[in-house]
Amino acid sequence: MNFDKIKRSITQSVLDVKNAPFVREMRKACANMYRLGWDERNGGNVSYMLDEKELEKYLDTSEYIREIPMGFKAEKLAGKCFLVTGTGKYFKNVDEDPENNLGIIKIAPDGETARLLWGWEDGGRFTSELPAHLMSHMSRLSVDSENRIIMHTHPTNLLAMTFVHDLNEREFTRTLWRMITECMVVFPDGIGVLPWMLCGNNEIGEATAEKMKEFRLVVWANHGIYGAGKTMDEAFGLIETVEKAAELYLKIAHLPVKNTITDAQLKIIADGFGLKAKEGWLDL
Ligand code: 13P
Ligand code: ZN
Repeated sequence: MNFDKIKRSITQSVLDVKNAPFVREMRKACANMYRLGWDERNGGNVSYMLDEKELEKYLDTSEYIREIPMGFKAEKLAGKCFLVTGTGKYFKNVDEDPENNLGIIKIAPDGETARLLWGWEDGGRFTSELPAHLMSHMSRLSVDSENRIIMHTHPTNLLAMTFVHDLNEREFTRTLWRMITECMVVFPDGIGVLPWMLCGNNEIGEATAEKMKEFRLVVWANHGIYGAGKTMDEAFGLIETVEKAAELYLKIAHLPVKNTITDAQLKIIADGFGLKAKEGWLDL
Protein backbone atom coordinates (compact mmCIF):
# COMPACT_ATOMS: atom_id res chain seq x y z
CA MET A 1 0.00 0.00 0.00
CA ASN A 2 1.37 3.43 -0.93
CA PHE A 3 0.88 5.42 2.28
CA ASP A 4 2.44 8.56 0.80
CA LYS A 5 -0.12 8.58 -1.98
CA ILE A 6 -3.02 8.00 0.42
CA LYS A 7 -1.77 10.71 2.77
CA ARG A 8 -1.43 13.12 -0.17
CA SER A 9 -4.88 12.45 -1.53
CA ILE A 10 -6.45 12.99 1.91
CA THR A 11 -4.58 16.28 2.30
CA GLN A 12 -5.44 17.35 -1.24
CA SER A 13 -9.15 16.77 -0.67
CA VAL A 14 -8.93 19.21 2.25
CA LEU A 15 -6.79 21.83 0.46
CA ASP A 16 -8.68 23.57 -2.29
CA VAL A 17 -6.64 24.67 -5.33
CA LYS A 18 -8.68 27.79 -5.94
CA ASN A 19 -7.72 29.06 -2.49
CA ALA A 20 -4.02 28.16 -2.74
CA PRO A 21 -1.85 31.25 -2.07
CA PHE A 22 -0.61 31.34 -5.68
CA VAL A 23 -4.17 31.20 -7.08
CA ARG A 24 -5.25 33.86 -4.61
CA GLU A 25 -2.40 36.10 -5.82
CA MET A 26 -3.55 35.63 -9.41
CA ARG A 27 -7.20 36.32 -8.54
CA LYS A 28 -6.22 39.48 -6.71
CA ALA A 29 -3.91 40.70 -9.49
CA CYS A 30 -6.59 40.21 -12.18
CA ALA A 31 -9.17 42.02 -10.03
CA ASN A 32 -6.78 44.94 -9.52
CA MET A 33 -5.90 45.12 -13.20
CA TYR A 34 -9.59 45.17 -14.12
CA ARG A 35 -10.35 47.79 -11.46
CA LEU A 36 -7.64 50.04 -12.91
CA GLY A 37 -9.28 49.85 -16.33
CA TRP A 38 -6.33 48.08 -17.92
CA ASP A 39 -8.21 44.94 -18.97
CA GLU A 40 -11.39 45.59 -20.90
CA ARG A 41 -13.40 42.52 -21.91
CA ASN A 42 -10.84 39.68 -22.26
CA GLY A 43 -7.88 42.07 -22.58
CA GLY A 44 -4.71 40.99 -20.79
CA ASN A 45 -3.19 37.69 -19.67
CA VAL A 46 -0.91 36.54 -16.87
CA SER A 47 1.28 33.47 -16.38
CA TYR A 48 2.84 32.34 -13.09
CA MET A 49 5.52 29.65 -12.96
CA LEU A 50 4.71 27.50 -9.94
CA ASP A 51 6.88 25.62 -7.51
CA GLU A 52 5.92 21.99 -8.13
CA LYS A 53 6.50 21.01 -4.49
CA GLU A 54 4.06 23.74 -3.42
CA LEU A 55 1.56 22.71 -6.11
CA GLU A 56 1.73 19.07 -5.03
CA LYS A 57 0.15 20.06 -1.73
CA TYR A 58 -3.02 20.74 -3.73
CA LEU A 59 -3.06 18.27 -6.61
CA ASP A 60 -1.30 15.28 -8.10
CA THR A 61 0.92 16.81 -10.78
CA SER A 62 1.31 13.45 -12.55
CA GLU A 63 -2.39 13.27 -13.39
CA TYR A 64 -3.94 15.49 -16.04
CA ILE A 65 -7.40 16.24 -17.37
CA ARG A 66 -6.55 16.75 -21.05
CA GLU A 67 -3.68 17.70 -23.33
CA ILE A 68 -3.62 20.91 -25.40
CA PRO A 69 -1.09 21.38 -28.24
CA MET A 70 0.78 24.68 -27.97
CA GLY A 71 1.93 25.17 -31.56
CA PHE A 72 5.50 26.05 -30.59
CA LYS A 73 8.39 24.46 -28.76
CA ALA A 74 9.38 25.33 -25.21
CA GLU A 75 11.67 22.39 -24.44
CA LYS A 76 13.49 24.24 -21.69
CA LEU A 77 10.20 24.47 -19.82
CA ALA A 78 9.33 20.76 -20.09
CA GLY A 79 8.06 19.59 -16.70
CA LYS A 80 7.39 23.13 -15.47
CA CYS A 81 3.94 24.08 -14.17
CA PHE A 82 2.20 27.39 -14.86
CA LEU A 83 -0.95 29.05 -13.62
CA VAL A 84 -2.32 30.90 -16.67
CA THR A 85 -5.36 33.02 -17.55
CA GLY A 86 -7.64 31.55 -20.21
CA THR A 87 -8.23 32.87 -23.70
CA GLY A 88 -11.37 34.96 -24.10
CA LYS A 89 -11.83 35.16 -20.34
CA TYR A 90 -12.80 38.44 -18.72
CA PHE A 91 -10.51 39.63 -15.92
CA LYS A 92 -13.54 41.01 -14.12
CA ASN A 93 -14.75 37.40 -13.63
CA VAL A 94 -11.51 35.71 -12.54
CA ASP A 95 -11.84 36.28 -8.80
CA GLU A 96 -15.37 34.94 -8.45
CA ASP A 97 -14.94 32.04 -10.90
CA PRO A 98 -11.30 30.89 -10.93
CA GLU A 99 -12.11 27.30 -12.04
CA ASN A 100 -13.41 28.47 -15.42
CA ASN A 101 -11.17 31.46 -16.04
CA LEU A 102 -7.80 30.07 -14.93
CA GLY A 103 -5.88 26.88 -15.64
CA ILE A 104 -2.80 25.13 -14.30
CA ILE A 105 -0.75 23.49 -17.02
CA LYS A 106 2.34 21.31 -16.96
CA ILE A 107 4.53 21.36 -20.04
CA ALA A 108 4.84 17.79 -21.39
CA PRO A 109 8.28 16.23 -22.04
CA ASP A 110 7.94 17.02 -25.78
CA GLY A 111 7.96 20.76 -24.89
CA GLU A 112 5.05 21.47 -27.23
CA THR A 113 2.03 20.11 -25.37
CA ALA A 114 0.37 21.59 -22.30
CA ARG A 115 -1.20 19.15 -19.85
CA LEU A 116 -4.15 20.62 -18.00
CA LEU A 117 -3.91 19.79 -14.31
CA TRP A 118 -6.71 22.04 -13.07
CA GLY A 119 -9.12 24.71 -14.30
CA TRP A 120 -10.89 25.72 -17.55
CA GLU A 121 -13.74 23.50 -16.46
CA ASP A 122 -15.93 24.83 -19.27
CA GLY A 123 -13.55 23.39 -21.90
CA GLY A 124 -11.48 26.58 -22.22
CA ARG A 125 -7.78 26.83 -22.92
CA PHE A 126 -4.76 29.00 -22.21
CA THR A 127 -4.40 32.58 -23.45
CA SER A 128 -3.77 33.12 -27.16
CA GLU A 129 -0.59 34.90 -26.03
CA LEU A 130 0.95 31.72 -24.57
CA PRO A 131 3.84 31.91 -27.10
CA ALA A 132 4.82 35.40 -25.83
CA HIS A 133 4.43 34.23 -22.23
CA LEU A 134 6.40 31.00 -22.35
CA MET A 135 9.07 32.38 -24.68
CA SER A 136 9.42 35.38 -22.34
CA HIS A 137 9.68 33.07 -19.32
CA MET A 138 12.56 31.30 -21.07
CA SER A 139 14.28 34.63 -21.82
CA ARG A 140 13.89 36.02 -18.32
CA LEU A 141 14.99 32.73 -16.69
CA SER A 142 18.15 32.85 -18.81
CA VAL A 143 19.10 36.17 -17.15
CA ASP A 144 17.29 35.81 -13.81
CA SER A 145 16.68 32.30 -12.46
CA GLU A 146 14.17 33.70 -9.96
CA ASN A 147 11.74 35.14 -12.51
CA ARG A 148 8.23 33.71 -12.09
CA ILE A 149 5.69 36.10 -13.60
CA ILE A 150 4.92 37.36 -17.09
CA MET A 151 2.06 39.88 -17.19
CA HIS A 152 0.40 41.40 -20.25
CA THR A 153 -2.17 44.18 -20.07
CA HIS A 154 -3.62 47.21 -21.90
CA PRO A 155 -3.02 50.25 -19.63
CA THR A 156 -4.91 53.25 -21.00
CA ASN A 157 -2.33 56.03 -20.73
CA LEU A 158 0.61 53.94 -21.85
CA LEU A 159 -1.39 52.83 -24.88
CA ALA A 160 -2.34 56.44 -25.68
CA MET A 161 1.31 57.44 -25.39
CA THR A 162 2.30 54.96 -28.09
CA PHE A 163 0.15 56.95 -30.54
CA VAL A 164 1.86 60.29 -29.95
CA HIS A 165 5.41 59.56 -28.79
CA ASP A 166 8.46 58.48 -30.78
CA LEU A 167 8.70 54.66 -30.46
CA ASN A 168 12.50 54.68 -30.20
CA GLU A 169 12.94 52.74 -26.94
CA ARG A 170 15.70 54.98 -25.61
CA GLU A 171 13.60 58.11 -26.17
CA PHE A 172 10.44 56.43 -24.88
CA THR A 173 12.20 55.37 -21.67
CA ARG A 174 13.89 58.74 -21.15
CA THR A 175 10.55 60.56 -21.36
CA LEU A 176 9.07 58.22 -18.73
CA TRP A 177 12.13 58.44 -16.45
CA ARG A 178 11.59 62.20 -16.31
CA MET A 179 7.92 61.97 -15.27
CA ILE A 180 8.38 60.67 -11.72
CA THR A 181 11.58 60.72 -9.68
CA GLU A 182 10.97 57.08 -8.70
CA CYS A 183 10.89 55.84 -12.31
CA MET A 184 14.66 55.57 -12.41
CA VAL A 185 14.54 53.56 -9.19
CA VAL A 186 11.84 51.19 -10.49
CA PHE A 187 13.08 50.58 -14.04
CA PRO A 188 16.71 51.76 -14.42
CA ASP A 189 17.09 48.94 -16.99
CA GLY A 190 14.68 50.75 -19.32
CA ILE A 191 11.79 49.66 -21.50
CA GLY A 192 11.89 47.73 -24.78
CA VAL A 193 9.45 48.82 -27.49
CA LEU A 194 8.04 46.77 -30.37
CA PRO A 195 6.26 48.38 -33.32
CA TRP A 196 2.66 47.37 -34.04
CA MET A 197 2.47 43.68 -34.89
CA LEU A 198 -0.33 41.14 -35.13
CA CYS A 199 -0.86 39.62 -31.68
CA GLY A 200 -1.48 36.06 -30.52
CA ASN A 201 1.09 34.28 -32.67
CA ASN A 202 4.62 32.88 -32.46
CA GLU A 203 6.18 35.81 -34.34
CA ILE A 204 5.19 38.44 -31.77
CA GLY A 205 6.11 35.89 -29.08
CA GLU A 206 9.63 35.57 -30.44
CA ALA A 207 10.04 39.35 -30.83
CA THR A 208 8.83 39.91 -27.25
CA ALA A 209 11.09 37.19 -25.87
CA GLU A 210 14.10 38.68 -27.68
CA LYS A 211 13.46 42.02 -25.93
CA MET A 212 12.89 40.22 -22.62
CA LYS A 213 16.54 39.13 -22.61
CA GLU A 214 17.37 42.79 -22.09
CA PHE A 215 14.29 44.35 -20.47
CA ARG A 216 11.68 43.47 -17.84
CA LEU A 217 9.20 45.72 -19.63
CA VAL A 218 8.24 45.48 -23.30
CA VAL A 219 5.72 47.84 -24.90
CA TRP A 220 3.57 46.64 -27.78
CA ALA A 221 2.78 49.83 -29.71
CA ASN A 222 -0.96 50.50 -30.07
CA HIS A 223 -1.72 47.43 -27.96
CA GLY A 224 -0.28 47.28 -24.45
CA ILE A 225 2.66 46.17 -22.38
CA TYR A 226 4.43 43.10 -20.95
CA GLY A 227 6.06 43.08 -17.54
CA ALA A 228 8.19 40.39 -15.90
CA GLY A 229 9.09 39.79 -12.29
CA LYS A 230 10.17 37.47 -9.52
CA THR A 231 6.82 38.12 -7.87
CA MET A 232 3.34 39.26 -8.87
CA ASP A 233 4.03 42.52 -7.02
CA GLU A 234 7.22 43.17 -8.99
CA ALA A 235 5.58 42.66 -12.41
CA PHE A 236 2.49 44.64 -11.36
CA GLY A 237 4.57 47.41 -9.79
CA LEU A 238 6.65 47.86 -12.93
CA ILE A 239 3.58 48.25 -15.13
CA GLU A 240 1.78 50.42 -12.57
CA THR A 241 4.73 52.82 -12.45
CA VAL A 242 5.04 53.03 -16.24
CA GLU A 243 1.30 53.67 -16.51
CA LYS A 244 1.40 56.46 -13.91
CA ALA A 245 4.36 58.07 -15.70
CA ALA A 246 2.54 57.82 -19.04
CA GLU A 247 -0.47 59.52 -17.47
CA LEU A 248 1.73 62.40 -16.33
CA TYR A 249 3.27 62.64 -19.77
CA LEU A 250 -0.16 62.96 -21.37
CA LYS A 251 -1.13 65.64 -18.86
CA ILE A 252 1.91 67.81 -19.66
CA ALA A 253 2.84 66.94 -23.26
CA HIS A 254 0.81 69.82 -24.71
CA LEU A 255 1.89 72.40 -22.10
CA PRO A 256 5.08 74.50 -21.94
CA VAL A 257 7.41 72.66 -19.53
CA LYS A 258 9.09 74.96 -17.01
CA ASN A 259 10.75 72.37 -14.79
CA THR A 260 11.99 68.91 -15.53
CA ILE A 261 14.34 66.22 -14.22
CA THR A 262 17.64 66.61 -16.05
CA ASP A 263 19.94 63.78 -17.10
CA ALA A 264 22.41 64.86 -14.41
CA GLN A 265 19.63 64.52 -11.84
CA LEU A 266 18.59 61.12 -13.26
CA LYS A 267 22.18 60.02 -12.63
CA ILE A 268 22.06 61.40 -9.08
CA ILE A 269 18.93 59.29 -8.47
CA ALA A 270 20.55 56.14 -9.87
CA ASP A 271 23.74 56.73 -7.86
CA GLY A 272 21.76 57.56 -4.73
CA PHE A 273 19.97 54.20 -4.90
CA GLY A 274 23.07 52.25 -5.94
CA LEU A 275 21.58 51.51 -9.37
CA LYS A 276 22.90 51.77 -12.90
CA ALA A 277 20.86 53.46 -15.62
CA LYS A 278 20.84 51.56 -18.90
CA GLU A 279 24.25 52.05 -20.48
CA GLY A 280 24.34 55.04 -22.84
CA TRP A 281 20.75 56.09 -22.22
CA LEU A 282 21.64 59.25 -20.27
CA ASP A 283 23.11 62.25 -22.13
CA LEU A 284 25.90 63.27 -19.81
P1 13P B 1 -6.58 36.31 -24.61
O1 13P B 1 -8.05 36.46 -24.26
O2 13P B 1 -6.35 35.20 -25.59
O3 13P B 1 -5.74 36.17 -23.36
O4 13P B 1 -6.11 37.62 -25.36
C1 13P B 1 -6.22 38.87 -24.76
C2 13P B 1 -5.18 39.82 -25.23
O5 13P B 1 -4.88 40.77 -24.54
C3 13P B 1 -4.51 39.58 -26.52
O6 13P B 1 -3.34 40.33 -26.64
ZN1 ZN C 1 -3.43 42.17 -25.43
